Amino acid sequence: MRFARERLLVDSGRQQGGYNRSMRRVYMDNNATSPLLPEALEAMRPYLGERFGNASSIHHHGQQTRAAVERARESVAKLLNCRAAEIVFTSGGTEADNLAVFGMVHGGDHVISSTIEHHAVLNSCHRLEKMGAIVTYVPVDGRGVIDPEDVRRALRPNTRLISIMMANNETGVLQPVESIGGIATEADVYFHTDAVQAAGKCVIDVQKIGCDLLSISGHKMHAPQGTGVLYVRKGTLLDPLFYGGNHERQRRAGTENVPGIVALGKAAEIAVEAFGNGEVARLEALRDRLQQGILNAVDETGVNGEGAPRVPTTTNIHFDHIEGEALIIALDLKGLAVSTGAACSSGALEPSHVLMAMGLASERARASVRFSLGKLNTAEDVDFALSLIPPTVARLRELSPVYKKHLVIGS
Ligand SMILES: Cc1ncc(COP(=O)(O)O)c(C=O)c1O
Repeated sequence: MRFARERLLVDSGRQQGGYNRSMRRVYMDNNATSPLLPEALEAMRPYLGERFGNASSIHHHGQQTRAAVERARESVAKLLNCRAAEIVFTSGGTEADNLAVFGMVHGGDHVISSTIEHHAVLNSCHRLEKMGAIVTYVPVDGRGVIDPEDVRRALRPNTRLISIMMANNETGVLQPVESIGGIATEADVYFHTDAVQAAGKCVIDVQKIGCDLLSISGHKMHAPQGTGVLYVRKGTLLDPLFYGGNHERQRRAGTENVPGIVALGKAAEIAVEAFGNGEVARLEALRDRLQQGILNAVDETGVNGEGAPRVPTTTNIHFDHIEGEALIIALDLKGLAVSTGAACSSGALEPSHVLMAMGLASERARASVRFSLGKLNTAEDVDFALSLIPPTVARLRELSPVYKKHLVIGS
């Protein structure tokens, strides 16, 4: 395996010598970040230039930006089916998750979360434990799905918060958040869901989910990096993370990122339209064709999360006997950008905590690659990916001592 990786790096050095600038590049890592939509860029442009006012100022300049922020708030509220006043703009998904967790829980409280959360929630929970809170991490089954009854069983008299994600960033697997919301309501416990990877991909209705807090991130839905939202149900007593001015109804101090918020509002409008105009269905068909094409053309592969409900844009596939990381490097050299999973853990040699929690052997977890599509992907992109993946996997397996050994044993 190490040999294959070293060989690749040598190849990479050679290629860079004669680097072809006009090389075709296809991006299929939209769960890491998604390109800004041209409409969102256009919407934000004036607020990077002539419309520069501080939204808290009472003069014309401030009024202009205040109106833009409030329009964006309305658009995001429509995306989530809530009131505009329940939207708190943040600097992204991580801040929204931290605000939900640390804004609700104190030392001595009990929290229920899961083993497959993004590190924005998981590491916040670890910090809570150091602060004297008790956290129960409910498991997932082999498909990556939580049993709501495990959540019910984990409840304690002092449970303050349930924080369970809506869609997993690595597998795209959707959790039964409506059932969990029902359990939380019955038990009179606050429910937060990290919907960062669900926003724009599936309909989010906070009334149906029955959640009190819900996080989204702009850059996962074609708005700029560094923008996000925490939905806070009216009446939820949330402590702020930041102290300063009275921004965001005292829930998030700090001058608003007006251009980012305006672009997020535009992306939210486009996301709402996408459920009605066939765009989400188009992406699902592309994802399915990509997935089926890989499974048909490459043996000893499989979908992680097979059989579970998933967002329409993501597939996570294991290519047995090779390192996912080696495949990513090899595909990148040929112009296809994909990933092993969480952007922050790419490059780390630890196998994914999500795939391990699903019960995959560590070799299989390491042999897994995530393909995540976005609005800018086309049918030609899928053809391109399908033309590259089978020969690249075959080449890596040829170089892999593990695969050779497997062939000998198998024959
Ligand atoms: C499920 C999930 N939650 C939270 C985050 C963090 O969002 P941000 O990058 O906006 O801080 C991510 C980013 O990968 C994510 O996938």
